Order: sequence, then structure tokens, then C-alpha cells
Amino acid sequence: MDKIEAAKEKFGKLIEEQLKRVEKMKEDKEFINFKELPVIKIGIVGGDGIGPSITSQAQRILEFLLKDEAEAGKIEFKVIDGLTIENRVAAGKAIPDDVLAQIKECPVILKGPTTTPRAGDKVNIESANVAMRKELDLFANVRPVRIPEEGIDWTFYRENTEGSYTLGSKGFDTDDDLAFDFTVATTDGTERIIRAAFEYAKNNNKERVTCVTKANIIKTTDGKFLNMFKEIAKEYPDIETDDWYIDIMTAKLIDPKRRTNFKVVVLPNLYGDIITDEAAEFQGGVGTAGSINMGKKYAMFEAIHGSAPRMVEEGRDKYADPCSIIRAASMLLSHIGYPEKAAQLDNALDICTQKEKKVVITGRSDGATSAEFADYVMETIEKNA
Ligand code: IPM
Ligand code: MG
Repeated sequence: MDKIEAAKEKFGKLIEEQLKRVEKMKEDKEFINFKELPVIKIGIVGGDGIGPSITSQAQRILEFLLKDEAEAGKIEFKVIDGLTIENRVAAGKAIPDDVLAQIKECPVILKGPTTTPRAGDKVNIESANVAMRKELDLFANVRPVRIPEEGIDWTFYRENTEGSYTLGSKGFDTDDDLAFDFTVATTDGTERIIRAAFEYAKNNNKERVTCVTKANIIKTTDGKFLNMFKEIAKEYPDIETDDWYIDIMTAKLIDPKRRTNFKVVVLPNLYGDIITDEAAEFQGGVGTAGSINMGKKYAMFEAIHGSAPRMVEEGRDKYADPCSIIRAASMLLSHIGYPEKAAQLDNALDICTQKEKKVVITGRSDGATSAEFADYVMETIEKNA
């Protein structure tokens, strides 16, 4: 077949697939209310590398804080093994079917990092992270960064299912000379993330919502994002709005005079990926930040760092820093209706990592283990209760 015809056929399939996704988004309008569930099932997914080691410590802390609720049958924990790179390679799938079925039984998931195969690796499977966001339609990736002493209080609403990620594993070479990737924006997908950001701002008294795109260059998809932002903003006259292009936004985040003006920032997937790493760095690095992946029916909470396979190879996984996944656990508590417990945990983490520092993680045997650190956090919660 002629290469143009072959490419048209591939592109046609992608359009079909995306139109189906749009239909599904239009059908699934209802949000689950976690607070109204008779039993909340929390899936604990360790993932790869240091994942199981740090995730099990976050689970211990959750079990400690939710002891009464678990005893009363209100909360159930379910450990889901098997989301490992070995199993994914064996199944030839980003998430093996049996693992996905177990995950889908849990509306709330705490997930450790998973190893992402790179282009050129022997296996061409999608990142498990990205696959889970798509499978569970976790459209909002919410990443807070707070540094009170510097007046920084940012909450990023990163679109999590579209943009360059939707077809990230489905680009193609038409021949040796020409390669294509695609970026996608749908009306429904764009609208729901922008609304989520404005609703969050409204409910949490945040005075400004900022939209970040590169709509001067990526005119169609980013153009849609920016236009919808301006339209939806009209429904929130009490909230200030502004918009920036991603390049200058990355610069403004390091401008101490300007950066404290940003509060809630809504942006397409790839820009959100990049800028949330930059933002977390001010707070002490990606290891200090937690992240919610939120959909209408599921919410998944995760560390934003990688799986550190080298630490496992060198037998150091038990010394891995569990702070990011513990932050994610705190966001989980708040999301399912226990904001006081979340505040207790955050407060203890601040004391342990910034004020007292009696037990220090170094990532090596000269520092504490993840379990010793988790003990320290729980003792601190008890002391301050
Ligand atoms: C993140 C990560 C992921 C992403 C990777 C691991 C697929 O960088 O959660 O920000 O690109 O979204
Ligand atoms: Mg990232």
C-alpha cells in the first residue's frame, strides 16, 4: 500500500478511537461521593523498585490513623500485587488484566511508582501510570506546592488524560524520513479540568486561577484550552484570572516578586508534567510532593518520583524516602472525608522533616529505614494528638 494511504488508515483508526472516548465521557457525568460510600475500599498498589517498600509504610500510617474506621468496617484495605514491570512485560500490557480487575474494585488507590519503558526498550508498552489514568479516566492531576514562609501556595490542576499523552504510544513513522506524534484536546475533556480548577478555587477561597498554554504556536488544541478557559471564567466573576505561555511561566515561577501571585494553575498534560517538577523543586524536590489523580469514579494517590531501580539493585530499598507517598496518603485521607486526620499527618511530617529531624533518611545505611521513619511519624502524631 502506498505510504500515504497506510498513514491515513492509521490516523483514521485513531480518530475512531478518540470519538468513542468522547462518547464515553458524555455518558459518564456522575461523580462518586466518597463520603457517602458505606465501605471505602482502599487499594494499595506497590508498583516497582522502591515502590512496595515505601507504599507499605504509608499503608501502616493509614491503618494507624484509620484504626477505628477499619474496625467498624467503614474502611477496607486491599493489597494489590502484580503491577510490576516483569508482569507487564510477560502480559505485553501496561496493566495486566487480572491486576486491572482488582484495581477497579477499589474506588481509592494508593500507588507506588512504576517503571516506565522508554522508546527503544525491547518492549513497547505504555507507562502503567498513563494507562491507569486512562483506564480509570483520572482526568485531573492535582499537585499542591506550599512554602508558607515564602508565600508560595500553588495548586496545579494538570489535565491528565489528553494532550500529548493520549496518543503518546500511538504515533507512527510514515517511512524512514517522517515521524508523527499527535496531541489531542476534546471539548468535554478540556471543560471538565477547567471547571474542576475553578470549583476548587471557589471552594477553597483561592483568589486567582491561571491558565498556561502555548496557544500562540499550538493553535488548535491549546487554542481550545485557552478559549474554553476564558469562557468558563465568565461564570466565576469573583475569581481573578490570567493566562501565560508555558515558556514565560517557567521563568516567572523563579521570580520571587511574581510567583506568589499564582494560586491555582490549570494546564494541559505535558506542560503540567514539566512545571510540577519545577514547582516541587522549590519545596525540596519531587520526593516531597504528593499527587492526586482524580476522576469521576476513582481517585488514585501517588508519589511523584520514580521507582529508583538502582536502590533495589544495591539492596537499599529499605532506606528509601517514603515522604512523597506519605504526603499522597494525607491527600487520600482528606479526599475521603478525614481532613482532620490529614492535617494531623501533615503536621507530623512537617515536624519530622523540618523541625525536629530526629530520624533522618539518607537513602543509605547511614540513615534510617523507611519503617523507622514511619514509626517516628506515628509517634509524632500520637504526641501531638
Ligand atoms: C508524572 C510522571 C509520569 C508522567 C511518568 C512516570 C509517566 O512524570 O507523574 O509526572 O509523565 O506523567
Ligand atoms: Mg512528571
